[in-house]
Amino acid sequence: MKILAFESSCDETAVAVVEDGRHVLSDAIASQVDLHALYGGVVPEIASRKHVEAIAALTEQALAGAGCTRSDIDAVAVTYAPGLIGAVLVGLSFAKSAAFSLGVPLIPVHHIRGHIAANYLAFPELEPPFLALAISGGNTLIIDVRDYTDMVILGGTRDDAAGECFDKSARVLGLPYPGGKPMDDLAQQSQGGVYRLPSSHVDGAPLDMSFSGLKTAVVNLAHHAQQVGEELDRAALARDFTNAVSDILVPRVMEAARQTGRTRIAAAGGVAANSIIRANLREACARENRTLYLPPLRLCGDNGAMIGAQGYYEYLAGHTAGMELNAYATRDIGEQA
Ligand code: KG4
Repeated sequence: MKILAFESSCDETAVAVVEDGRHVLSDAIASQVDLHALYGGVVPEIASRKHVEAIAALTEQALAGAGCTRSDIDAVAVTYAPGLIGAVLVGLSFAKSAAFSLGVPLIPVHHIRGHIAANYLAFPELEPPFLALAISGGNTLIIDVRDYTDMVILGGTRDDAAGECFDKSARVLGLPYPGGKPMDDLAQQSQGGVYRLPSSHVDGAPLDMSFSGLKTAVVNLAHHAQQVGEELDRAALARDFTNAVSDILVPRVMEAARQTGRTRIAAAGGVAANSIIRANLREACARENRTLYLPPLRLCGDNGAMIGAQGYYEYLAGHTAGMELNAYATRDIGEQA
């Protein structure tokens, strides 16, 4: 079954053709990152307009790349939530017209379910149940993936997402947007151990997390240094910051694995590209004899292939939608469209 898949929830327009949920036939992406970097973050209105400009040509590119004509497409999958509402609406409207004109089913896909499904593309042997750590620019969740379309949130951030914390902290260190990758590179240049940063815990919810205090601590350190004319050890701060994020994430996902008895853990989302977090997850899983799935870097960020992968399993579960399907800025991963 060949699925034409659309993703437009943030600043990446992505269209892919995926066969039977596991084989990527094409994966076309138009990134807007350079444009938003001028403003130090994503400007929602600009993101929507750029999606409109890119999506038709990108669809042709994806079809050509897959060696497909329109009549080869069996279904259309699309991110319908969560994300920047105007941006999601562009992909959703285009996908609706594609499904309608091709006369094929329309499959709504939750963006975070898509990130998790990136693992099905990278690891053909991976099947639910497993535990997922979904860490992206807008979401930070520990999820029990009981089945392909049956997911329960075990823990999550109460405030900022891990990626947002990276981006805002990187900004005060003078790094370009999006700050995750530059922060990762800078952190590699130091062993850290210079700055004491706060850790957090949520009373009565040991798997929940908070990143806003950590972000504020980095912002305050940078501003204080500026005010008193002190030179910051930027590399050490990047390292200590990344270690602090990792120390929030890794013990919690391991605790969730112990609680649920899951032996397999899959990482997902842009922050899962972080080299220190990847190393710490590897070490923790090796110590506790759990199998870790870390998608390659290109599948960690937003892409259309992951939507096609999850779309296949949504279709098998009977989750298709009519033309009344709406977009949502926020939506629980456990809910159906
Ligand atoms: O999954 P993603 O591409 O988009 C969302 O769905 O949000 O994630 C983007 C986030 C950004 O905050 C970016 O800074 C972060 O992923 N990121 C990283 C790294 N690469 C990207 N964070 C830490 N280390 C990295 N190497």
